[in-house]
Amino acid sequence: MSSAIAYTELGGPEVLTLIDIDVPAPGPGEVAVRVEAVGVNPLDLKLRAGLRPSPPITEPRRVGSDAAGVVIAVGEGTEGFRPGDAVIVSGARGAYATDLVVPADALVRRPGNVSAAQGAALGIPVGTAYQTVRSLAVGPEDTVLVHAASGSVGQAVVQFARLYGATVLGTTSDRRADRVSALGATPLPYGPGVVDRVRDLAPGGITVAIDLVGTDEALDQSIALVADKSRIATLVRGADAAGLGIRAFSGGSPQPLTDQEIAWRKEAIPVAAALIAAGAFSVEIGPEIPLEDAAEAHRLVEKGADGKVVLLP
Ligand SMILES: NC(=O)c1ccc[n+]([C@@H]2O[C@H](COP(=O)([O-])OP(=O)(O)OC[C@H]3O[C@@H](n4cnc5c(N)ncnc54)[C@H](OP(=O)(O)O)[C@@H]3O)[C@@H](O)[C@H]2O)c1
Repeated sequence: MSSAIAYTELGGPEVLTLIDIDVPAPGPGEVAVRVEAVGVNPLDLKLRAGLRPSPPITEPRRVGSDAAGVVIAVGEGTEGFRPGDAVIVSGARGAYATDLVVPADALVRRPGNVSAAQGAALGIPVGTAYQTVRSLAVGPEDTVLVHAASGSVGQAVVQFARLYGATVLGTTSDRRADRVSALGATPLPYGPGVVDRVRDLAPGGITVAIDLVGTDEALDQSIALVADKSRIATLVRGADAAGLGIRAFSGGSPQPLTDQEIAWRKEAIPVAAALIAAGAFSVEIGPEIPLEDAAEAHRLVEKGADGKVVLLP
């Protein structure tokens, strides 16, 4: 029997329960995947808690969008995949599951040396990071400040910005400074005094700031440091961006992503998979938790885990 995590009311992690599911045979253009790992994203927690808009719940609501696994069947006329292929799934509806049936365009082939956990860790964080770096046209002339550089999105932003030739500074707890440094950014502690610390570390100035934490502090510091507000973006305080004159990409923004931004988020997955396979990009895997303990996984993300929390069906 196949199973999945779902909830029937908004609330804390305790609303997550394991349910039995029927998995249909894949139809035309679809692929059935046996899931080997699932990425847990902060968005999953926000939706569960009702912190992001969602329609009324009329049936058990499935959770999650990012996973990786192996193809077990393909629908009639579906091209590009066959049983046995290792794949990365992004943008799925209800990825916290043992089995998924998804449109073929939700899949990317997973190179042999990319683990299921690494594949499951890509979707939202890496897609968001790559799109943000592309949208802000980060390049060799830039010095970029990343708030929350030690998180899943932050680590990916740091690496893409470095790959595009930028100098990068990233705020982090002291505990996580080595990780930020290993990815090629200059770490500095978040909190009061960031503006002075950044001016000492980057006397030439900051040209781009990317907020991945959403505190007033991070937004104020970004505005104090970057002259051109069109090169400040928040991924968390989207609802406040227009009032501050800065950019937002989702994160509660009333402005939907453009077609180009959506395309970049999709393009990021094969780009990152190829980079990982070549040893040129790193994804930090955190605690690996059994699927049935999804509530525990959400508690860990809420508390702040080191690396991507992954569920194992
Ligand atoms: N707009 C979008 O499309 C989009 C997409 C993906 C994610 N997001 C949002 O982006 C945020 C980050 O996501 P994530 O997946 O990277 O989360 P994550 O992996 O849980 O990382 C969160 C990070 O925040 C850092 N942090 C905690 N308090 C901080 C503070 N006061 N100042 C600076 N950094 C602080 C932590 O650093 P330490 O551990 O070093 O303390 C941690 O590394 C979430 O709010 C998420 O919902 C938005």
